[in-house]
Amino acid sequence: MNILGIDTSCDETAAAVVADGKKILSNIVASQVDLHQKYGGIVPELASRKHVESINYIIDQAVTDAGISFDEIGAIAVTNRPGLIGALLVGLSAAKSIAYCYNLPFMGINHIEGHVYANFMAHDNLPFPNICLTVAGGHTLLIEVHAGWKYSLLGTTQDDAAGEAYDKVSQYLGLGFPGGRIIDEYASKGKDTAIGFPRPLLNSGDYQFSFSGLKTAVRYYVDKAGEKLPPIEDIAASFQTAVVDVLVQKTIRAAKEKNAKAITLTGGVAANSQLRQTMHQAGVEIGVEVYYPPIQLCTDNAAMIAGIGYHKYREGLRDGLDLNAYATASIA
Ligand code: KG4
Ligand code: ZN
Repeated sequence: MNILGIDTSCDETAAAVVADGKKILSNIVASQVDLHQKYGGIVPELASRKHVESINYIIDQAVTDAGISFDEIGAIAVTNRPGLIGALLVGLSAAKSIAYCYNLPFMGINHIEGHVYANFMAHDNLPFPNICLTVAGGHTLLIEVHAGWKYSLLGTTQDDAAGEAYDKVSQYLGLGFPGGRIIDEYASKGKDTAIGFPRPLLNSGDYQFSFSGLKTAVRYYVDKAGEKLPPIEDIAASFQTAVVDVLVQKTIRAAKEKNAKAITLTGGVAANSQLRQTMHQAGVEIGVEVYYPPIQLCTDNAAMIAGIGYHKYREGLRDGLDLNAYATASIA
């Protein structure tokens, strides 16, 4: 069964066609990075407007690239929560219009559930329960994933998401937006013991995260150093190691406590080379395998939405044309 997936939760206009929850027939993502770059972050109103310009074209392209016609779509899965409300409404309205015109069933999907599902698209037979670390520009969540698409939320960020901290630190260092990949590159050439940045909530005894203080510590450090700033590579490496230390140690502790059969990483920050490497090594030490999807499924995309949408369809989920969008929503 072909599912058309649509995601406009943030700054990517995305549409995809996935067969039977797994086979990606098309996966189109129109990035708005150029639009938001000069502001050093995403401007919600600009994001919504850009989605309006792109959405029809992107959906058409997804269907054409899949080599099918609209008549061959069985259902529509659209992200309706959580995200930027104006942005979500664009994708949701498009999905409703197509569902109405072609008399198709449609389902509202939780964006985070899509991120979690990305690993199930990329890997066969992932064992349950597994611990999923979802780290992106807008989210940092530690989730216990049970069979049957049931979730326990173990912890989340109290303030900034990990990706948000990356983007802000990149801005302080004058390195551009989005900052994750740039900092990752600089960090690979720096000394991570150069500056002792804090590891927020590392020993809090729970699974909560906080990255705002770390972000501010980098800012104070840069402001105070003035002309005597050490190499950017060392600042990037010291910052990145602080982030990775917290993410890895908390995830590993959760995996041990919950007797997890696997650890999965997802979201844009899961593209981070040091996070992947360190988590992999830590997983080896406790005998738990670590999985992550290819980059195009880590970052925002609609294939993951179509993928989980297929399972929701089979579970009997159907939404009405009065379905709303929600800026905040929990996975569990
Ligand atoms: O999943 P995503 O595309 O969008 C959201 O749902 O937020 O994630 C984007 C975030 C940005 O904050 C970006 O800086 C970060 O992912 N990112 C990275 C890397 N590549 C992207 N962060 C750390 N290291 C990377 N290599
Ligand atoms: Zn996302």
